[in-house]
Amino acid sequence: MAPPTATEPARNATQEEIEQTVIKLANLKPIGNRFSNNSQTGPQLDWLKKLPEPARKRFEKAGIDLSQGYPVIPKREDIPKFVDEAFEIRNKDYPYIERAKNADPEKKALLGAAKEVIHLTKHIGTEIVGLQLKDLTDKQKDELALLVAERVVVFFRNQDLSPQVQLALGEYWGQVERHPQAPHVPLPIPEGVDTIAKGSGVSVIWRRFFTEYFNAPTGFKKQSAVSGWHTDLVHEHQPSGITHLHNDSIPATGGDTAWASGYAAYDKLSPALQKFLDGKTAIYRSAHQYLDRENPLKGPKYIEREHPIVRTHPATGWKTLFVNRAMTVRIVGLEPEESKVILEYLFSVFEKNLDIQVRFKWQPTQEGFGTSAIWDNRISQHNAISDYDFDDDERHGTRVTALAEVPYFDPNSKSQREALGLSLD
Ligand SMILES: [Fe+2]
Repeated sequence: MAPPTATEPARNATQEEIEQTVIKLANLKPIGNRFSNNSQTGPQLDWLKKLPEPARKRFEKAGIDLSQGYPVIPKREDIPKFVDEAFEIRNKDYPYIERAKNADPEKKALLGAAKEVIHLTKHIGTEIVGLQLKDLTDKQKDELALLVAERVVVFFRNQDLSPQVQLALGEYWGQVERHPQAPHVPLPIPEGVDTIAKGSGVSVIWRRFFTEYFNAPTGFKKQSAVSGWHTDLVHEHQPSGITHLHNDSIPATGGDTAWASGYAAYDKLSPALQKFLDGKTAIYRSAHQYLDRENPLKGPKYIEREHPIVRTHPATGWKTLFVNRAMTVRIVGLEPEESKVILEYLFSVFEKNLDIQVRFKWQPTQEGFGTSAIWDNRISQHNAISDYDFDDDERHGTRVTALAEVPYFDPNSKSQREALGLSLD
């Protein structure tokens, strides 16, 4: 056999490079959810057939046109492809009115009109009984914003709530987030919405859809891929304030959500660690990914933005620990290993202390009604518990998020326990 010629190794190297490029291209998920390789965008006609009955009835009653399909995914050509484009969405200061600051501190109009006010745990979570969100006056909406700022999350069962009213309520509390990629309810997009994100502002929360459309890992052992502690939309220039999730289709058992308080997490830290963190910043990333313009073959990247790691809530004036395992990447100014160790500890404070958490079962007590949870992302993390089988039991809801202020840290602000005169031990 003739010895290999001098050109063969060079040809092999080139073939290997080509192969690697092909593999990269095959793996490249140019836009979309990290699991996505589905190219069907726009209104989803096949998925409309699978819409749970209570959701369909709610939409029909609200006069929502589902004829084109449901949910609507922004069209491929409308989705920003590069991370620098996505970063520019809402990348400027815009006015924010903190409605909770206008509220009567005693919240008489809201609490006085309720049939019952149930504090679900000492530190977090209140359920209001006997009020319809659709009937709230502006005064009551201000007071609800203050109640949410104090109690972190507030629940309303047995709600007759259209997506349009849910959207209007969100618009009262801030600029409604319109997502460039997320599935949404088909509603007309108002003129003059100053964003390249084309969403209607009412996002769809439907695990069956997310799992199947986006090919998310599924199964009892893989639930952590679709669940986990996080805070919504922390990568925004003005991250989320009040989020309102209304679930219209609820499993008989399972599908609970848990929240944990950022005020209380901060109060759990030693004064020395509090002092160390006060005034520091961290990098926060998006849930969705985009291409790096400089190196599109390298794989998708997240949007990243810097915010204070301890924030002051503008209405209560209390300090809150602003981290979450899913989206806080690193603490600015620390070595990577130092940042990793400290963040891991901070995540664990939220996740391990059951006394600063509330777990909520969504089930309404009257059939045909939905349940709303209204929480403040500035002062909380949450975790959707995926312990139901969607072949038997469906969970479907709509989410509206009002974006809040540019996060800030006021060195003169106090912790919640300090402000309330409670023991700091
Ligand atoms: Fe969330």
